[in-house]
Amino acid sequence: MRKPIIAGNWKMFKTIAESSATAAQLKPLVAHTNHCEIAVAPVFTSLRFVADRLEGSNIQVASQDIAAERGQGAYTGEVSGEMLRDAGCSLAIVGHSERRQYYGETDETVNRKARAALDAGLRPIICVGETLAERDSGREREVAKRQINAALAELTAVDLDRIIVAYEPVWAIGTGRTATPQQAQSMHAFLRSVIADTFGEAAAQDVRILYGGSVKPENIGELMREDDLDGALVGGASLDAASFARIVNYLG
Ligand code: 13P
Repeated sequence: MRKPIIAGNWKMFKTIAESSATAAQLKPLVAHTNHCEIAVAPVFTSLRFVADRLEGSNIQVASQDIAAERGQGAYTGEVSGEMLRDAGCSLAIVGHSERRQYYGETDETVNRKARAALDAGLRPIICVGETLAERDSGREREVAKRQINAALAELTAVDLDRIIVAYEPVWAIGTGRTATPQQAQSMHAFLRSVIADTFGEAAAQDVRILYGGSVKPENIGELMREDDLDGALVGGASLDAASFARIVNYLG
């Protein structure tokens, strides 16, 4: 059985005071939740503060990005996996479509970052997903296959155990236009089959594949009913503690 993961990606929102307050509000709202893993991803400058607030809770902290380089070095503006661990992270989002679109991340850098996360003892949440133009031209599977195969290049079955995949169709991010449960399920099953081609069916069955793109308290239930949806990566609706808690507690 794959335990679901519900993660909130706060993107470039919230000051230190605001992210600490949201973390503190969220804690009691999900204190009894054990049907899924829970994580929040604040901006770098808030990581340590949020991690301190969440110490001893069932909410993990994720970074929104990670350097491809290890340890320390002359890489202005970058933050290494070791530093993210030091700041209280156990997870790192890698290859988010906003980073691919606006900051020139490629399949190759996503792979390097995923490997850097694993080396630092972080679990990477590897994001893949097609643009609207790619879907409209019927290329969504081709794109997702290329992205996932590239991201997982040179990884072993042991690494796979610590990897989380997020399918985030770009056309569904921040648009209010969620993929239908059927569209998401079809892509998740496809991604799992692509992973199975490289790593074998048993290993692929254990990988959590999260859906992201306009997830809300109102649609999480129907999405989670699909066999291959193992949780969600939530943007806008994770910024408010009560809203995110309703998503986390979608069962009841
Ligand atoms: P929204 O939930 O705001 O559509 O964002 C999804 C996302 O990009 C999560 O990483």
